[in-house]
Amino acid sequence: MNLDFQEKEFRQYTEQAVSIYFDWLKRLRGSKIYHNYTPAQIQERFNETLPEEETPVESLLASVGSDVFEMSNFNPSPNYYGYITGGGNQVGILAEFLKAGLNQNNLKWHNAPANSEMEKIVIKWLCQFMGYPDDSAGVLVSGGSEGNFLHLAVMRKVMGPASLSQKGLYGQKPMTVYVSSQGHSSFDKAMDLLGMGKDYLRKIPVDDQFQVRVDLMEEAVQKDLNEGLLPIGVIGIAGSTNNGAIDKLDKLAALAKKYKLWYMVDAAYGGPAAGTAVAGHLFRGMSEADAVLVNPHKWLYVPFQVAAVIVRKKEHLKNTFSLVPDYLRGGLEKTEREDLMDLTLQLTKDFKALKVWMTFKAYGAKKLRLAIENDIAIVRYFQELVNASEDFEMLGPANLSIATFRYVSENDGIKSNQARVDAVNERILELIEEDGRIFFAGTRINNRPALRINCNNYRRTKADIDFLLMVLRELGEKVLLRSV
Ligand SMILES: Cc1ncc(COP(=O)(O)O)c(C=O)c1O
Repeated sequence: MNLDFQEKEFRQYTEQAVSIYFDWLKRLRGSKIYHNYTPAQIQERFNETLPEEETPVESLLASVGSDVFEMSNFNPSPNYYGYITGGGNQVGILAEFLKAGLNQNNLKWHNAPANSEMEKIVIKWLCQFMGYPDDSAGVLVSGGSEGNFLHLAVMRKVMGPASLSQKGLYGQKPMTVYVSSQGHSSFDKAMDLLGMGKDYLRKIPVDDQFQVRVDLMEEAVQKDLNEGLLPIGVIGIAGSTNNGAIDKLDKLAALAKKYKLWYMVDAAYGGPAAGTAVAGHLFRGMSEADAVLVNPHKWLYVPFQVAAVIVRKKEHLKNTFSLVPDYLRGGLEKTEREDLMDLTLQLTKDFKALKVWMTFKAYGAKKLRLAIENDIAIVRYFQELVNASEDFEMLGPANLSIATFRYVSENDGIKSNQARVDAVNERILELIEEDGRIFFAGTRINNRPALRINCNNYRRTKADIDFLLMVLRELGEKVLLRSV
């Protein structure tokens, strides 16, 4: 049964797909970017019995255009400020299309030669972009959570007992790992899933700049050593998820060296800013790390999904992940051939390198740096407006592309009433979804509700920030007037 189309038909479908994308993109500004559908409404649109018969592709694409696009969040819009979501890029779209055409199964070198070599080049370019030693090795994975899991697996392998692979953790001293209280939750998950236990992830308090207290981290290491535990590694945060804080990475490098600990930097989000003139100095010390995580799908605007697990020495990845059963011995075992499956958990993975490679090639590092610097400038502009206003306040410095803040209008005398400020801000977050013109989610700063925006999108201008504040003021006033 042949599933291929005639070339002419296929060209028509791609033309139709391009039109769907551009019809959507034309609405970047000025309309709702979030439609507030309920799960039931979405299920109703898509839920049908398994289609036994064919659907003409033309009408299938039309329904993707009307239903899937309409019921998706408009993440590439400059009015979208949610989580840490990169704006994507159009060369990346072409790469994803061609990647699916190539359909490389890249577990072994001989099965995906261009893919296997390109992945090495992309890792080198990422290192060069961030100012990390470019003779490092790495592998591309799905995202930061998988990346942090793999990084802790490497740390455990390099620093843990030699018998670990065969005998497991039974009867061993608990291994302890040190990270800022602002560290990403994927470290907790990884400690749990790797059998090291969440309790042994030592979460160290931060100072008023949200940077980890290195003195308290050292005390924690000493305490664990005195109590007979096995400290194995220090994690530095280069762009915290909550508000973009960057630890004093050079001080952490010195601490790791002093106690002979593995040093890993989670630069999943912030890493690319290390390559910029405006923020590069904040990352001093990252180059001394044994290992770094960076997600091109965040601040290099590469479409989801791609993160890079980078280590100074390739054998650390190989020793952790390589396992070759009989059925994977195919191909000439030439030493210069590097099988990607030896460097990570997955066997088959998609050709992630293509979209990163094409992004670097098409735009060039210079333009990408300028885009990142523009994002930083936009957030600083937001910070200036907030600081100059009477109805908003910042909740910490905006070092990178994230700002945390709250609405504190004098109206209604709320400023002096902490509980009321918190309630108003929580209600604003609900109204943002109901309203749909802008989009972001909140967080908690110092245990209180906070508004939080993130700007990893080169399409954004200062006028978009003015629009954001206008909408937020409108929603804030509505809440204060108790009209909603
Ligand atoms: C610092 C940091 N590490 C790890 C992650 C997890 O990355 P992902 O969302 O790609 O799983 C994030 C996500 O925002 C992050 O900010």
